Amino acid sequence: MALHRILVADDEESMRWVLSKALRKKGYTVDLAADGNEALRQVREQSYDLAIVDIKMPGMSGLDFLDKAREVRSDLLVVVMTAEASMKNAVEAMKRGAYDYITKPFDLEVVDAIIEKVSRARDVTNQVSLLKQELKDRYQVEKNIVGNSPAMREVYKTIGKVAVSDVTVLIQGESGTGKELIARAIHFNSSRLGKPFVAINCAAIPKDLLESELFGSERGAFTGATERKTGKFEQANHGTIFLDEIGDMPLDLQAKILRVLQEQEITRIGGSQNLQVDVRVVAATNQELLEKVRNREFREDLFYRLNVVPIHLVPLRERREDIQPLVEYFLARASAELEAQPKQCSDEAMELLCNHSWPGNVRELENTIKRAVILSNDPLLTPADFGGLFDRQETIHAVPQEQQSLEAIVEAKLRSSMNGIEKLDKGDIYDRVLEQVERPLIRFTLEKTRGNQVRAADILGINRNTLRKKINDLGIQLKKD
Ligand SMILES: Nc1ncnc2c1ncn2[C@@H]1O[C@H](COP(=O)(O)OP(=O)(O)OP(=O)(O)O)[C@@H](O)[C@H]1O
Ligand SMILES: [Mg+2]
Repeated sequence: MALHRILVADDEESMRWVLSKALRKKGYTVDLAADGNEALRQVREQSYDLAIVDIKMPGMSGLDFLDKAREVRSDLLVVVMTAEASMKNAVEAMKRGAYDYITKPFDLEVVDAIIEKVSRARDVTNQVSLLKQELKDRYQVEKNIVGNSPAMREVYKTIGKVAVSDVTVLIQGESGTGKELIARAIHFNSSRLGKPFVAINCAAIPKDLLESELFGSERGAFTGATERKTGKFEQANHGTIFLDEIGDMPLDLQAKILRVLQEQEITRIGGSQNLQVDVRVVAATNQELLEKVRNREFREDLFYRLNVVPIHLVPLRERREDIQPLVEYFLARASAELEAQPKQCSDEAMELLCNHSWPGNVRELENTIKRAVILSNDPLLTPADFGGLFDRQETIHAVPQEQQSLEAIVEAKLRSSMNGIEKLDKGDIYDRVLEQVERPLIRFTLEKTRGNQVRAADILGINRNTLRKKINDLGIQLKKD
């Protein structure tokens, strides 16, 4: 990375002049200071890539500047200038963390050489800090995966095994079991750490946009394509692409994905050039992909190409020992996020949580805990804090009727009235059910309009003749008042 802004501090004006002229000629932005105090002020206000500072200056010396400046900006690189006679100052400066020193008088080539060296050093510093950030991300991912059940331990093992290679991984599991979390863990544990992780949800993007999202498009490729667009595969170059909900990918695109996997190259829509890409593919689905293969909705060859290493995420109800640690983890996280006091579950509440079936898996558990933490004022959460969670699965009637949508009431009613029936007969069930909704609706509307059919038809948004026919067919009595 190139240097941009350099600070030169020297009490000798001729020195400042020579250095600034030489450095500006090379394209650097140079600020000047006549003593240590002024230099320090500038360091506070500006971010410098390098400071070249005379050791002997009135007021604050170069050495004191060095100490103070590093308090303000610990990463500032400082080169000191010293007269030949005072080599011991140079040594002292190096001890205090100067990057290098120049002895006066010097040739400008010496300055060039130093700047060259500084540039290289800055590259290394940047790489180190990038690496540190990546390690932190990776640590974050690991810290965020909770669960020690045999099923999860198997998953951790697989993550470890696939980390070193570039093999394609297919993650299958019900909604909310942690597929995306695991996909990230694979990326952050691989050698592609520090390169992009690009996720795309194939189910969330309209079919006709998906292709350009994935592969990009050239300007003018289709109406509205006013700019060249890079696709997700290009964005993920050298990194990992996460193809989420791959089961929803249309067949024609499946063929194109297969090609990327085989040839490691893509073509933008409307483009003629093949672009080489180096991308690791992790795919996920909550559908039975093999079933889709059997129904010819998913290409068999793509399935095998993706499924090199399969990971199955087991539903939460089948690894109940993970529930308690997850509850504790989400309690701590929710409290921290909301800056609320730490909360705990009563034994009774914990038992209920551990016995719940969790159809929405970890995501549902997470949301349930969050909601309880927000809504409760007490540090101890009891079953009451988990609302209707525990009776909801028993029967929908547990929620007061007036809080339910009409749809929910009808559904509950339908289910309960049809429960006893072993096999539904072919016939008129559709009409029979609709009748039971239509009849009260029309009766109610006519009541409100005091039997005025024109207004009733208006309110209902149907034709007056249609209304008359329905009144007849449904046998609705017209009250005269
Ligand atoms: N083992 C786990 N430890 C901690 N948090 C988890 C775990 N599994 C899932 N989660 C959390 O649960 C939520 C859902 O996980 P994720 O989005 O990865 O699931 P998913 O399988 O991709 O779901 P969907 O099929 O609905 O997209 C996320 O907030 C995730 O962080
Ligand atoms: Mg997901």
